[in-house]
Amino acid sequence: MKKEKLAAVRGMNDLLPAEASLWEVFEARAVDVLRAYGYQQIRTPIVEHTALFARGIGEVTDIVEKEMYSFVDQLNGEQLTLRPEATASVVRACIEHNLLYDEPRRLWYIGPMFRHERPQRGRYRQFHQVGAEALGFAGPDVDAEQILLLRRLWQALGIGPVRLEINSLGDGQERARHRAALIEYFESHGERLDADARRRLHTNPLRILDSKNPAMQPLVSEAPRITDYLGVASRAHFERLQELLAAGGVEFSINPRLVRGLDYYNLTVYEWITDRLGAQGTICGGGRYDPLIEMLGGKAAPACGFAIGVERVIELLRGSGQAAASPACDVYVLHQGGGTYLAALQAAENLRDEGLDVILHAGEASLKSQMKRADASGAEYAVIVGQAEAADGTAMVKALRTTDEAAPFARQRALSLAELGGTLAAALAAGDAFDDERTCGTN
Ligand code: HAM
Repeated sequence: MKKEKLAAVRGMNDLLPAEASLWEVFEARAVDVLRAYGYQQIRTPIVEHTALFARGIGEVTDIVEKEMYSFVDQLNGEQLTLRPEATASVVRACIEHNLLYDEPRRLWYIGPMFRHERPQRGRYRQFHQVGAEALGFAGPDVDAEQILLLRRLWQALGIGPVRLEINSLGDGQERARHRAALIEYFESHGERLDADARRRLHTNPLRILDSKNPAMQPLVSEAPRITDYLGVASRAHFERLQELLAAGGVEFSINPRLVRGLDYYNLTVYEWITDRLGAQGTICGGGRYDPLIEMLGGKAAPACGFAIGVERVIELLRGSGQAAASPACDVYVLHQGGGTYLAALQAAENLRDEGLDVILHAGEASLKSQMKRADASGAEYAVIVGQAEAADGTAMVKALRTTDEAAPFARQRALSLAELGGTLAAALAAGDAFDDERTCGTN
């Protein structure tokens, strides 16, 4: 009987080696920028109690109502969920480990998130976020600082124009007044509400504003705006944020319809959007969530944060020429089996002692076919340990990537095993410096 082919779960993607270098570029730049603003890494589990997200994100949200991968732990009956986002998890961890006891915290994370959405370009069921949470800061200076951090990251990645939309959701009382106005408005247009909106009218009318149903858009665009309900303090917070952004040279537009899809926000909310990714153009979303820490059982403390959709940013990076496929190694070591393998093994270990990345050819093959592999590996140098070399403690070295006759090892030449590692490490470092000089010169 033919065995059924096993494939990945729909909406959950493999990351193949050809793409991995783009992810590495993204991750390295993100970590550099986050560190430049004093953020420290936190890692929380992928699985949490369902109640954390239900309470944190809000019972009447798309995520909690229909997108969570939840299950009962067969062993102990606990209700668990694959995290759909990490803000609630970070807050839980801070409360559990008393991290906010004597100082505020700037924390960042990276990892997979899970939402049972309909997969399409830029929308997956397993996707990745890089996020940051600043806990214990009242803002709006920290709100602005996070936006500057993100602007710096987009620049470091060279991903081209991304526009920033901001809004303020005010405080609890202001939202309550806005909510009453929304209910009144939507009730008066009851016949135009879709099923979702009708269901949410009295539980969470704010969510009607981020309805994805095109038929609802005219109604939504005429709905009462939260910005008209802001009091003096909220208005001052929002204005100061705008002043700080302007002082930092950040362009933005105010979008009074921007309400975000999670219930924990207050005051500042924002999204970074590109027009180059089709319908899923939001590459980052965030804002302030002052009520959340107390809602999850901690001592009340203000906080704000953001999360970047990594797949979407990678798509912008793809084709931008940012990351050449990174070579698998610096040096590829060839041999002729038997005793030559032992000498080659030693040579490879010596090269690794010098910090080089080395592939030692596995198995037996002709030198010609090994040379093809060496070429395909992207290595700068081939090191060949044949019978003659193994006998006299040497190796042949050949540069694989140069057309310059004067470059070191452009012509194959022998080195003693003792000098091999040091010589190639120096040659590679000199080559890097030469490349850097050329890059700087052309910029
Ligand atoms: P979010 O807006 O739900 O916010 O997600 C942030 C970003 O993750 C989105 O802008 C998008 O780029 C990406 N994203 C979301 N869902 C998907 C998906 N199904 N496939 C691919 N990418 C996706 C949050 O998650 C909040 N925790 C952000 C935050 C942190 N707010 C304060 N702190």
